[in-house]
Amino acid sequence: MSESIYLVECATAEQQAAVDELVKQFLLSDDKLASIIKEFRRRMEEGLAADGRVLKMIPSYVSERPTGSETGSYFAIDLGGTNLRVLRVTLDGKGGVKTEQQKFMLTEEAKTRTLFDFIAQSVETFLDDRNLRPTGQQPAISMGFTFSYPVQQTSINSGILVQWTKGLNVPGCVGRDVVRLLQDALLRLGLRVKVAALVNDTVGTLLSAAYTDPSSQMGIIFGTGTNAAYYEDISSVAKWKGTNPASGEMVLNMEWGAFDSDEFAFLPFTPHDIKLDRKSINPRKQAYEKMISGMYLGEIARNIVLWLADQRLLFDGRSSDILNSMWSIDTSYLSSAVTDDSPALSEIQQIIEKTLNVSNSTMADRRIFKIISVLVGERAARLSSVGVVATLTKRPELLDMPINIGIDGSMYEHFPDFERILAEAVSRFIPEPQFRNIRFSLAKDGSGVGAAIIAMLATKKDI
Ligand code: BGC
Repeated sequence: MSESIYLVECATAEQQAAVDELVKQFLLSDDKLASIIKEFRRRMEEGLAADGRVLKMIPSYVSERPTGSETGSYFAIDLGGTNLRVLRVTLDGKGGVKTEQQKFMLTEEAKTRTLFDFIAQSVETFLDDRNLRPTGQQPAISMGFTFSYPVQQTSINSGILVQWTKGLNVPGCVGRDVVRLLQDALLRLGLRVKVAALVNDTVGTLLSAAYTDPSSQMGIIFGTGTNAAYYEDISSVAKWKGTNPASGEMVLNMEWGAFDSDEFAFLPFTPHDIKLDRKSINPRKQAYEKMISGMYLGEIARNIVLWLADQRLLFDGRSSDILNSMWSIDTSYLSSAVTDDSPALSEIQQIIEKTLNVSNSTMADRRIFKIISVLVGERAARLSSVGVVATLTKRPELLDMPINIGIDGSMYEHFPDFERILAEAVSRFIPEPQFRNIRFSLAKDGSGVGAAIIAMLATKKDI
């Protein structure tokens, strides 16, 4: 028997049966989550022991914590999936920051060919617009470079691109040092800028959270993609062959979006997920990310919608050119659908009829569209707890004191109820009183700010 929120008034028995099937596939019991957490922990251990495992657990060469009393202005370049930002970050010495930034939308050419020249030109524009370009005898400007893709780091400012993820796919970069590629592009423009630190966005998010709150232990992105970084005891990183840092710890970039990509055995794959994976630019990769992050949720929903339409259980079997095109359902439409409580579900009607161009939707169509959005979003939020719980219970001693987790990304910031469902799921596995010690906080634009902080730490002394 379905829970009442999944009962579709005015639906046919066949429509309700299809919804019930979706509910069964998408609602995850605590037992199911527990078994995924257990596997996640096993995969973490595997990644700490050796390179090349599913969870890469990449040492970031960042082993310090900012104190919050650092002052000065520092620069960063922050490359995300759709935008590039160049920033000047001013630290006020009291845990506060001010940022001045310029956003550049990645062009199609940049995304497919000329990425590093595009970045160098954007840096040039930022510096020239503000009269900051070093001339004559002036020293080169040091910048942190946030690069939100998996990189096997070889030092604080070098690292080899392992693979592209999310939407980017620039040929000739995998297997190469991305700092070298950027430094060469800067040189071609005669710009005296030195990339002082190469930083994953999760590592940046963690360090920016740590500047404002010293109890920060973990940085997470729930955005277009997903991933996390945390401070690990260096003696637990068996594969680490470098010099042990004086602090005894190091930030690890987990690259957790890849979880279960090799086996497809633990995550709750439905035919709609498999279809998405097969048609993606990176099949059999980033399995966890594809169930959680903003880039993919709309597309999972689209697969479900078409599955229903093809059985004449939605839109009376009709579709449209727009609905037939991959990625035409943006995850933000699911956000709007989840919060539409109007009597006629008019927001959803707008999405179906105007945006997706499928005319004459019925109330049952709209209700089903809302249920699909709720199910896909809720599964993402509950699955997000898996990585959080596995990481926090890896260092249980930290849970006996206040611990801050800095989080950024559109899913966390904007998807309705994402944080509440995530926290509720975490509390099932880390109950009171320890749960009370955990604070989730928004580290808005933390990736760029953190990169500037890391560049500052790296130029002050070798880290
Ligand atoms: C990338 C990570 C990144 C995450 C969040 C993933 O696709 O592999 O390096 O941290 O997205 O942006």
